[in-house]
Amino acid sequence: TETVYGLAANALDSVAVAKIFELKGRPTFDPLIVHVAKRDDLLNLVTEDPRPIKRLIDRFWPGPLSVVLPRLSLVPDLVTSGLPSVAVRCPDHPVARRLIEEAGVPLAAPSANRFGRISPTTAEHVREQFPEALATILDGGPCEVGVESTVVGFDGTHVILYRPGGITLEAIAEEVGEIKVAGTDDKTPSSPGQLTQHYAPRTPMIISAERLPKADENRVGLLALAKSEPPTDPSAFAEIEFLSQDGSLREAAANLFAAMRRLDEQDLDLIIARPVPERDLGLAIMDRLSRASAR
Ligand code: TXA
Ligand code: MG
Repeated sequence: TETVYGLAANALDSVAVAKIFELKGRPTFDPLIVHVAKRDDLLNLVTEDPRPIKRLIDRFWPGPLSVVLPRLSLVPDLVTSGLPSVAVRCPDHPVARRLIEEAGVPLAAPSANRFGRISPTTAEHVREQFPEALATILDGGPCEVGVESTVVGFDGTHVILYRPGGITLEAIAEEVGEIKVAGTDDKTPSSPGQLTQHYAPRTPMIISAERLPKADENRVGLLALAKSEPPTDPSAFAEIEFLSQDGSLREAAANLFAAMRRLDEQDLDLIIARPVPERDLGLAIMDRLSRASAR
């Protein structure tokens, strides 16, 4: 898809969906997103689409926005981890859309990585994650967005943000006004799949605005938004990845997971990530960086 590569199965077939959980090593309390080829297919899966969600769909589908709505009973429990709701999105990538159309069924698809690991943004990343298990990888080129979809729901009054992602909070707020962030008060349930540790490289990683390698740290990598970012003496680091040429958060999001993978392959003792501004796509980038660095 335009966000990350996914591992897809017929969303209406529990046995097919079970194979996704098995292959990923994913716990079954973590629900999947169901992908549809067109907007109208949403109503084959959910009981309602309230007005604010409808507005968001009108503006952002096809695109990196998943909506969580009360599900119809034909959606298997395994897809939703037994929740009364299901997350649905219509991806904006010709290959993904064509695949769903040809399949003739909605496709449940998590990111195509082993559980907890870095999400794949190229076909090669998927091959590395599943060297033997997968028969077919559809290569749609590098993902243009590079971070997963924004996941939103609705509590009857407010739109709730479950996961920051490819559609910015600013753009959503422009459409529907005030938004609640899930899990920040007792009334908004947090999203079950949003674990503290996620998207993680094997190399230990920390987020710090200023930290430089210490004397006893041999091989330290730096992950930073752009060259111009202070305070950094490049010679102090064994490897450096800049996420963008000029500080563009959009470019940084598209490069994030591939850059994390490259650093992870360098036998480093530590990766230091510089924080990025928490606006626009920076919110999703910081979400992924904090989970990647949680231990
Ligand atoms: O961009 C994306 O969304 C990618 C591509 C492949 O479409 N998919 C993706 O799926 O990121 P996955 O499985 O890695 O993340 C799905 C997350 C879950 O972990 C959970 O946080 C949230 O979506 N989710 C799914 N169903 C939910 C529900 N009923 N209520 C709340 N959150 C839900
Ligand atoms: Mg994932």
